[in-house]
Amino acid sequence: MNPFISVRGGNQLHGQIAIGGMKNAALPILFATLLIRGTTQIENIPPVTDIETTLLILKAMGAVVTRLSPTALRINADAAEPDAVPRELTTRLRASSYLLGAGLGRFGRIRTGLPGGCDFGSRPIDLHFRLFSAMGAETRYNANDVEAVAPKGLHGARVRLGFPSVGATVNGILAAVTANGRTVIENAAREPHVVDLAVFLNKCGARVSGAGTPCVTIDGVAELHGCCHRVVPDMIEAGTYLAAVAGTGGRVRLTSVEPRHLGAILDRLNAMGVFTEVGKGCVTAARTSPLLGTDIETLPYPGFPTDMQPQFAPLLSLSSGGGCIWERVWDDRFRYAEELRRMGATVAVKNRCACFRGNDRLIGGKVAATDLRAGAAMLIAGLCAEGTTTVTQPYHIDRGYPDLIQHLHDLGADVARTE
Ligand code: UD1
Repeated sequence: MNPFISVRGGNQLHGQIAIGGMKNAALPILFATLLIRGTTQIENIPPVTDIETTLLILKAMGAVVTRLSPTALRINADAAEPDAVPRELTTRLRASSYLLGAGLGRFGRIRTGLPGGCDFGSRPIDLHFRLFSAMGAETRYNANDVEAVAPKGLHGARVRLGFPSVGATVNGILAAVTANGRTVIENAAREPHVVDLAVFLNKCGARVSGAGTPCVTIDGVAELHGCCHRVVPDMIEAGTYLAAVAGTGGRVRLTSVEPRHLGAILDRLNAMGVFTEVGKGCVTAARTSPLLGTDIETLPYPGFPTDMQPQFAPLLSLSSGGGCIWERVWDDRFRYAEELRRMGATVAVKNRCACFRGNDRLIGGKVAATDLRAGAAMLIAGLCAEGTTTVTQPYHIDRGYPDLIQHLHDLGADVARTE
């Protein structure tokens, strides 16, 4: 039998849980260790399969990884080799594209499989290539792999991105930290994961300034040394639990969060009538009255994150009045709509907009986790539905949420995993 998660809906969520480190910050930091001489200690790494895959890639390349605990490790990539990239593993996650920037910086050449990850329609990496090319590298790709080479080394460049791409900004920073001279990335992504990477690299001796603003400046240095770093809390994991309690009703307190990162998510929850309270490193959400309808527009940070829109979809279905989600980052991120319809939601999707009628009753059924965040959305729908929901393809969810089933169980959900 294929594994699945089953949820019996109807229980309110109550209690407290601690949020882990941000997957999307930990991944670039792990790839960045290729650039570092000596040993680095990284803490608050979420135990999720995307991280495990990344560590397998780095180990296959020759890095030595020592586990200190389930969420902390030491890594030394002094012996890493560019020709040892395990191409099959790199196709399993999007973040493997960071091998290009880190590999160029460390070896002056690198070849990887085509980056995989969630399927939201086309996921080009032309902006990454533009940055590399401006810095003196050549890039090639075919149906199986991507190659970047800089036989004469990398030099600084000034590049304006056509869209504030997280991936391109990260790759540009990785390539530039040990390049010759100054690189300026204009219209850079401002996401907390970009900032955390810069903080980490600066602890290792890099000179990155402006991370978190639309203009990031990187002055290349000759060498980076190890450091100790704690990964920032995961705003999407936190937002997912906030959406869950908004759906079920109840009261949940999240600790180990960075409330500054949650502004756009809390704003939409408040618009839907959910009470929220922010403290130092913690946030509480409670819902005691029916959900109100609202509209949501995803945007680069500090806008509402695209990684949170699927989790709000069941809330809009249940709300009085419904509302629309405008997806401004990806072409095709509403594949979950068909699954929600199976549970009784009325949702119309046209191009990059999904409109939810609202006032729906969700009824348990068999639905698929079509990608990572869509999987979380199906679990939330199941928590709010009448009867039992079976969520298939749970491996998508395991790529990004540590201990999700255990946490939901601890908060009072009737949820179990079947292997
Ligand atoms: C994006 C999200 C990130 C999220 C991740 C997974 C934004 C800005 N980024 O990051 O928060 O964690 O998805 O859901 O919200 N693009 C190009 N050419 C490129 C690179 C990107 O055209 O070379 C376009 C993409 O098609 C997309 C947009 O830019 O429309 C955002 O891409 P990007 O930020 O690079 O994606 P991720 O790094 O995967």
